[in-house]
Amino acid sequence: MLRTKTVEQSIRDTEEPEHALKKSLSALDLTVFGVGVIIGTGIFVLTGSVAKNNAGPATALAFVAAGVVCGLAALCYAEFASTVPVAGSAYTFAYASLGELPAWIIGWDLVLEFALGTAVVAVGWSGYVRALMENVGWNMPEALSGPTATEGFAFDLLAFLLVLLLTAILVLGMKLSARVTAVVVAIKVTVVLVVIIAGAFFINGANYDPFIPPAQKQAGGAGLDAPLVQLLFGYEPTDFGVMGIFTAASVVFFAFIGFDVVATAAEETKLPQRDMPRGILGSLLICTLLYVAVSIVVTGMQHYSELSVDAPLADAFKATGHPWYAGFISFGAAVGLTTVCMILLLGQTRVFFAMSRDGLLPRFFSRTHPKFRTPYRATVLLGVIIAVVAGFTSLEDLAKLVNIGTLFAFVVVAIGVIILRRTRPDLPRTFRTPLVPWLPILSVAASLWLMLNLPAETWIRFAIWMAVGVVVYFLYGRRHSRLGREGREAKF
Ligand code: ALA
Repeated sequence: MLRTKTVEQSIRDTEEPEHALKKSLSALDLTVFGVGVIIGTGIFVLTGSVAKNNAGPATALAFVAAGVVCGLAALCYAEFASTVPVAGSAYTFAYASLGELPAWIIGWDLVLEFALGTAVVAVGWSGYVRALMENVGWNMPEALSGPTATEGFAFDLLAFLLVLLLTAILVLGMKLSARVTAVVVAIKVTVVLVVIIAGAFFINGANYDPFIPPAQKQAGGAGLDAPLVQLLFGYEPTDFGVMGIFTAASVVFFAFIGFDVVATAAEETKLPQRDMPRGILGSLLICTLLYVAVSIVVTGMQHYSELSVDAPLADAFKATGHPWYAGFISFGAAVGLTTVCMILLLGQTRVFFAMSRDGLLPRFFSRTHPKFRTPYRATVLLGVIIAVVAGFTSLEDLAKLVNIGTLFAFVVVAIGVIILRRTRPDLPRTFRTPLVPWLPILSVAASLWLMLNLPAETWIRFAIWMAVGVVVYFLYGRRHSRLGREGREAKF
């Protein structure tokens, strides 16, 4: 269970022709790729509800807090990604350092992160597209507008169709996706800059008073939806105040998810040793600056209690009497969210691919397409499942579940950096995490802190998912593991 896969073996596996991916990405591609997946539903949708319910104008501080947690994790990810340039991200890293069971747990956890993340973003996208359609007088029937719009049968048709379309694009190959991504990222970043620059002229200073709204008792009391940390330490759960900033940070953390996905493309990068760290840290830095600026501007334009929760950026412009900007922003958001969705879906299929290549999931899924060189079987299977989940999903709870899973992966990666430095000090590391072991330890503590600020309910759901994963491992993965089989054969 604790057998580890050597780094050399991981790299060798990527060289088997029928299980290999094409190496075509540069540092710039990776940064574009990173920004393409990072800026999404987090800033476009969650900012509004978090400012309104948890932190007020101090949402900007929540973004800083979440950004710092991600920055620490990024420094650990960058070392791992430049040492083990193989598809599968934290999963591969864990296999090389911690052993098979921890690797399986991480892989299973990443499936949760990417699959549900894709679904969350598809639902956010569908909301913006419906808003745009309404502008020109087309209305979707309520039953096809998703679970939040109506009681009874509800299916989010647009989200469902988006995931299927993106699945088809991914099967056709990485190159096409990267090109489409670059154009869409340009549109998305332009929209974000327009929000910041144009919005700055419409700020009313009175909206920043108070910057940190005083703490208020939570309406639901000490129910399962209260942050675990407040329940554990026997506080009466509150919104706003200083604790509210951390509650907000644990939710807007979703806005940063994606820099770790860049690491999943290591195997498709031309010079991973140099380009991976640049891609990961560069895209994270750009996004943090943009988020802080956007949240300061938006909470300055409208009082936090009046922000909309569906399309807060666009609606703040409507509220200050600038509907033309609002339309432009909705359009850009709808376009931008497509790439986020696509890259999360890509990250998902790559993790699944890596697990299947190792035999922890059926090897059937890791055959690449003879012509397109993409892991088409895993892509199609997961694409269809995610499309259905997106059709029936409600947004915020799932985002929290994605967050807890991702933070958990950060914890494992940071511990992995420390362990791999001890067990394999000889490996070439073009990027070295500074101040090991202190920085990784701080990263573990910071990630755990954000996890504790998520609701007890989210912890329970996460525990159930992980328990199912452990059962699957003992029933399938442990016996079919390629590493395990090779080990057994070597003994005879
Ligand atoms: N960070 C991505 C988003 O905000 C997942 O949608």
